[in-house]
Formats: sequence, C-alpha cells, structure tokens
Amino acid sequence: MSETVLVTSCKGGIGKSTVAANLSMALAMAGHSVLAVDCDFRMRCLDLIMGYENNAVFNLYDVIEGRCTPERALVKDERVRSLYFLAAPSDRHASVDAEGFARLIGELREYKPDGRGIDYIIIDAPAADDESIALSAPVSDQAIIVCSHMPSAIRAATFTSELLDEFGVKKQRLLINSFDAKSALMSSRAGIIEMIDSSKTKLLGIVPYDRELMIHQENGELIDRLSSKNNAKAAFVNLAKRLIGRQIPLFEGFSGKDYKKILSAGDTSGK
Ligand SMILES: Nc1ncnc2c1ncn2[C@@H]1O[C@H](COP(=O)(O)OP(=O)(O)OP(=O)(O)O)[C@@H](O)[C@H]1O
Ligand SMILES: [Mg+2]
Repeated sequence: MSETVLVTSCKGGIGKSTVAANLSMALAMAGHSVLAVDCDFRMRCLDLIMGYENNAVFNLYDVIEGRCTPERALVKDERVRSLYFLAAPSDRHASVDAEGFARLIGELREYKPDGRGIDYIIIDAPAADDESIALSAPVSDQAIIVCSHMPSAIRAATFTSELLDEFGVKKQRLLINSFDAKSALMSSRAGIIEMIDSSKTKLLGIVPYDRELMIHQENGELIDRLSSKNNAKAAFVNLAKRLIGRQIPLFEGFSGKDYKKILSAGDTSGK
C-alpha cells in the first residue's frame, strides 16, 4: 500500500513544489516507486519544475471524471525508473471535491504501473488554507511542512501545523528550506534549534539555499543533474532516507566549513 505524503505550508513561495519535485526524484533514485501529484489547481507548475511541460496530455480531473484511466494520465519519467507524474487540471474552473479526490488517491494506491505498486504518492499542495487542506488531509498519511528560517515562515509553520491538527493529520514533520548556514551561524536569523523549538514539529531535514538548484529548476531539471558534491543534492538524498525511517545526521554528505561549524555547535540530528 502506498504512503501518501503531503508537502504543504500556509506560506506561498517557500519551496513546496521544489521539495515535492526533488524529494520524488531522490526517492526514485533510491529505487522506490514514486508518483508526484500536482494538486495546486490554480498555480500548477510541478510539470514545469519536473520537466514534463509537453508530456502531460491528461490530468487528474480527467481520471476523476472517468475520461481516462490512470494508466493514460500518468507521465512516466525518462530519467529514472519508477518515477511518475500526474498533472493538475489545466482548466482553473475544474471543481475537484474531497470525495472525488479521495476516490482518485484510493485508486492510485492500488494502481500498479509497470506491474509494480507505488511506494510513495507525493502531493504538491498550494499555499495551505482550510479548503485545500480539507481536500488533501483526509488522504495523507503524513505531512511535510516546508519552512524557511525567516520569522514569518516560522510563524506560518506553526499555523500550518495547527491546521493539519484540526484536519487530523497526526504525523507532521518540518523541512527547513533555503537554509543559509552563514546567517544561521551569525544568528542574524533563527538558528536550527530555535526553529524546531518554536514550531514544535519534529525536524525531517534541511535543504540549503542553492543557486544551481534554482537555475536547473528553471529548465525542468532536478537533483539528478546536480554534481555529487552539491549540498542541495545531498540534502534531498538525506531527506529521502529520513522519510523511509533511516536515522542519519542532518548534514550527512554536506561540504563546506559552515556546516562543520553548525555540527560542532550542537547535534540536531536526533531531534
Ligand atoms: N533551496 C532552494 N534554493 C534556491 N532556490 C530555491 C530553493 N527552494 C526553492 N527555491 C526557489 O524559490 C522559488 C519558489 O519555489 P517553489 O515554487 O517551490 O515554492 P512554492 O512554495 O511551491 O510556491 P507556491 O506557493 O507559489 O506554490 C522558485 O524560484 C525556486 O526555484
Ligand atoms: Mg508550488
């Protein structure tokens, strides 16, 4: 049975789609079967980020409405085996209700593309509000709350967690994105430990701010195209490992003296 992971935050532009896309790739690179679903019905962009701009003929609304089968709607990645994508409706007036969406995810959980069940369904959600959480929470086994170390994002993470609580998503973990080790060391922004304390959500991982990641993303390229020395790539590889339950240090595989300093300042890996 697939595990459904909701990537969310009440804050816009914080990196939800970046995380959903690259986490999906990292899990597939590790041999898992992964389906990334674009559930941002107004500002869909996961197809662009993942490089499927011209590949998605059908979308999830077509499956819900019975116009096509999941088999026809799923886009199969050409870079890595067992990575699939399901697009959001292109018609912004398409009305996806919670019942139809739950039926869809139920069907996808049972679906076996290429004869193998899907291990992880990764949902890329819009900036969370009651309406979008009411749709995605009932089908989600866990949620990743994306946050940065800006005070407004930390507050948004706390708010998101409360919203997820209200909708019954018990397993919630925090992901700190666009992390800037230098400013964290200078304490000019919230450090890792303060952030975990103020959000009260268990930390799943940290993704550094990375220009290369951003530039590749503009061309529909994911972490598979980054060099093996790239810290953002290491971060997503770690994230995939921690998601499947492996206990590894937060900055495993990172290079650079700033990360060494953060590690020597205090071990945050087990928190
Ligand atoms: N770790 C990072 N390093 C550098 N740039 C990043 C990082 N994470 C995200 N970005 C950039 O930030 C911008 C916003 O990211 P993204 O679209 O993933 O956010 P979002 O939360 O999904 O936004 P929205 O609320 O509009 O759906 C993009 O240009 C992306 O490339
Ligand atoms: Mg997005």
